[in-house]
Amino acid sequence: LQAHPGAPPRRQRRFGAESTAAMKRCVVFVALIVFALSAQGGVQSMLSPASDQSDAIDRVWQIMVWACSTLYLFVLGVLAWAIWRRRRALASEGARHDPMLSRALAAWAVLVVGLLTWFVAISFLADRRLHGAGSEAPDLDVRITARQWWWQVEYLDHDVSRRFTTANELRLPRDRTARIELRSGDVIHSFWVPALSGKEDLVPGHTNAVWITPRRVGEFRGQCAEFCGLQHAKMALDVQVAELPQFDAWRARQLEPASSPSSERTLRGAEVFARSACGNCHTIRGTPSGGRTGPDLPHLASRRTLAAGSLPMQRDALARWIADPQHPKPGNLMPAVPLAREDADALVDYLMELR
Ligand code: CUA
Repeated sequence: LQAHPGAPPRRQRRFGAESTAAMKRCVVFVALIVFALSAQGGVQSMLSPASDQSDAIDRVWQIMVWACSTLYLFVLGVLAWAIWRRRRALASEGARHDPMLSRALAAWAVLVVGLLTWFVAISFLADRRLHGAGSEAPDLDVRITARQWWWQVEYLDHDVSRRFTTANELRLPRDRTARIELRSGDVIHSFWVPALSGKEDLVPGHTNAVWITPRRVGEFRGQCAEFCGLQHAKMALDVQVAELPQFDAWRARQLEPASSPSSERTLRGAEVFARSACGNCHTIRGTPSGGRTGPDLPHLASRRTLAAGSLPMQRDALARWIADPQHPKPGNLMPAVPLAREDADALVDYLMELR
């Protein structure tokens, strides 16, 4: 469509190739900032920090964004000035060496090196914060083991009778510091709850830890942040921060064994669970089932999601999940256990009673 093939497009002829590229970059930059700011306030946003640690990360981010944005706009301004100056010089007596320019460039290099050193220092300090450097003993010890594709969450205690295990949910009390020990049962995963903490890898054969001091009550979402196989995307962690009394009530409930079946139907469900393969992988405290390969189930129905955030915790979803686990989450390690229709219904009713 061009009048002269091989000639630069009209816009480029008018502004020059450098200015067109700079304009494009400027538009992308502004779009990225708008995109980042629009994510503010979500359950999985690092822009609404809800803990001391995410606050430290947020401060680093704010400093970097403002410093880099100012510098970027300054560089664009200088570029525009340089283009204008060169054109003027070419039109008149030709380009001349300007000693002022050399000094300005040297000052610029010093400024950039100084800024980068400052960034390294503040990142280092924020990282120390994340890992509890200099902190006193934590109020709460939690161990999270990542598995393909779910999170095993163990609340540790010196008193063994006060330990319990849950899955895909992490509850924390506000204004108390928790030390989260991170392990992996298979491949490398990454723990990331943007509103509460930075990313930390869970590496097989190695133990990492992050510290979290939540300052805001609320519901947050964590997500595995390291590609770990087919269902990496469906590896979410439901995080809830509550006031201490509510947290203590939840913990007391979790420490109790599973409730006994309340009706004949759910009693049948419990029997189905006991005699089929379910107990090989799952534990229901208070019953003989003690498998450790899959999530603990004594309080399954008190959770908000199923299959690591893939499905809502509802009867229909649970029934579908048990009937064909490979449909909603292909490749996961839960096999379909063949059950008669009546048995499957009773089993689901029983599991829905485990609050
Ligand atoms: Cu676990 Cu990605």
